[in-house]
Amino acid sequence: MRIDVISCVPALLESPFNHSILKRSQQKGIVEIVVHDLRDYSINKQRQVDDYAFGGGAGMVLRIEPIVQCIRKLQSERNYDEIIYTSPDGKTLDQSEANRLSLLGNLIILCGHYKGIDERVREHLITKEISIGDYVLSGGELAAAVLVDAVVRLIPQVLSDESSALTDSFQDGLLAPPVYTRPADFEGWQVPEILLSGHQAKIEEWQLQQAISRTQTRRPDMWEKLKH
Ligand code: ADE
Repeated sequence: MRIDVISCVPALLESPFNHSILKRSQQKGIVEIVVHDLRDYSINKQRQVDDYAFGGGAGMVLRIEPIVQCIRKLQSERNYDEIIYTSPDGKTLDQSEANRLSLLGNLIILCGHYKGIDERVREHLITKEISIGDYVLSGGELAAAVLVDAVVRLIPQVLSDESSALTDSFQDGLLAPPVYTRPADFEGWQVPEILLSGHQAKIEEWQLQQAISRTQTRRPDMWEKLKH
C-alpha cells in the first residue's frame, strides 16, 4: 500500500509516521508513506498557499492551485483508489471504514487547514471526506495521523502476531476484554483466577463474557447493532 499525505505543516506528521508500528511497517516495505509539503507547490516565492476568503469572514483558506498541482503530479505517476480530505464535516471514521481502506492500494490524504480549503477542490477532486470525531482540530494533520495508524495496523503483515488486530476492540463489534500481566498479586490486587488456570477454552469463554458485558454497559449502541 502507498499513502501520500499532503500538508502545509508536514513537521506535524514526522513523529507519528517515524515510530513504532508505522515505522516498522515502512521498514518492512509493507507500506510506503510519503509526506508532501504543500508549500513546494506554492504560487509564489513567499511559499504562500492560503488566501483571504471571498465574501469576507475570519480565517484563511487554502488556495486551489497548489493542491491541484500536487494531486495532478501524483496522479500522473499512479492511479489512486481514494483522495481523502480530513475535515470535521466528513463522515466519522469507524473500524469498518478503516478495514475497507486497508484493502486498497494507493491513497492520497489531503490535510485540512484552519478555515478550510477552496470548495472547488472538494467538488472536483476529493472522493471521500473523513472526520475523526465531533470536535475541531487546528488542522487535519493529527486526523491524518490517526487515520493512517488505524488503517496501516490492519494490513495483515503489519502486526507480528496477526491475531492481535483481529482481537482489537471494535473488530468483531465488541469492546475488548480486560487484560492483565505480572505480578499476579500487586499489594492484594488480584488478577482473576481463571486467567491463571491454564484452561484455554474456559479462559476464552470468560474473555468473551467480559467483552459482551463491557459492550452492554459501556456501549449499548454497539450492542444493539450487534443483536440485529
Ligand atoms: N480537521 C479539524 N478537525 C477535524 C476532525 N475532527 N476530523 C478530521 N479533520 C479535522
